Amino acid sequence: MAPTFRDKTVLITGASSGIGRALAVALAAQGAKVGVTARRAELLKSLAEEIRAAGGTVETATLDVGDRVATLDGLKNLADRLGPPDVVIANAGVSEPTGVEPMNVPGVVRMSNVNYLGVVYAFEAVLPGMLARGSGHLVAVSSMAAYKGLPGAAGYCAAKAAVSTYCEAIRIDLWPRGVAVTCVYPGFVGTPMTAKNSHPMPWLMTADAGAAEILRRLPGRPGVLNFPRRMRLLMALARLAPDRFIRKRIRVKVIDPAA
Ligand SMILES: NC(=O)c1ccc[n+]([C@@H]2O[C@H](COP(=O)([O-])OP(=O)(O)OC[C@H]3O[C@@H](n4cnc5c(N)ncnc54)[C@H](OP(=O)(O)O)[C@@H]3O)[C@@H](O)[C@H]2O)c1
Repeated sequence: MAPTFRDKTVLITGASSGIGRALAVALAAQGAKVGVTARRAELLKSLAEEIRAAGGTVETATLDVGDRVATLDGLKNLADRLGPPDVVIANAGVSEPTGVEPMNVPGVVRMSNVNYLGVVYAFEAVLPGMLARGSGHLVAVSSMAAYKGLPGAAGYCAAKAAVSTYCEAIRIDLWPRGVAVTCVYPGFVGTPMTAKNSHPMPWLMTADAGAAEILRRLPGRPGVLNFPRRMRLLMALARLAPDRFIRKRIRVKVIDPAA
């Protein structure tokens, strides 16, 4: 793969594990200067050691993306240390079941804060600078779950749909200003998040393969980045399927972390 991110500054939220971690390692290997953030400082520290041992450039910031001030301060601090960000990848996310009895309203709030508002706060931290420079790339990691409300996962699907719609709108706002917006829709990727799933996960990919697919297509600055494409087709069919079919065939079962 051509080193298209060489010397670029890329900030990533949710880089302590899974897709975000794999993106950080792959970007640093291409010669990007990476700023990595998450809540678990120890995991960020070991990621930074791995990247530096391989000759890469990395800085870390421990923060909770559900906290607006912490996210603004943390990402601005990374930009001070690494240089103005060319790309921000708002990838941090959480997933937990949201049935209807009980409703798990606290879970809906958590997923709205992290999966949706966490993206907005990360963009807020870097967008004024990108607008002033007339260049930049905002990337949000949504999910195929944004395409269809799935039983047992109302809170996750709704938060991801919010991210997708937000990106779609600001993509149009920002188009004349030189700032691109990409919304990424992964299918199933093997990470700590999906390790707790007990339902079938068709076309499951590794985090490294998922990150490679994102980085292969990101330089084209697409508005929408779906992978794998077969999963996108399945979700399009799911949207057309009657509720009784979905009810019989699909039930998202994840282990409740609070249980
Ligand atoms: N895996 C899949 O099949 C799949 C499919 C579609 C979409 N996605 C999306 O892909 C993204 C990455 O997920 P993953 O599968 O790689 O899961 P993961 O391994 O659990 O990684 C989630 C990352 O988000 C961080 N995070 C969670 N809550 C946070 C918070 N409040 N503040 C800051 N960071 C936070 C975690 O770090 P800390 O816990 O250290 O904070 C971790 O680094 C998520 O947005 C997820 O919804 C995943």
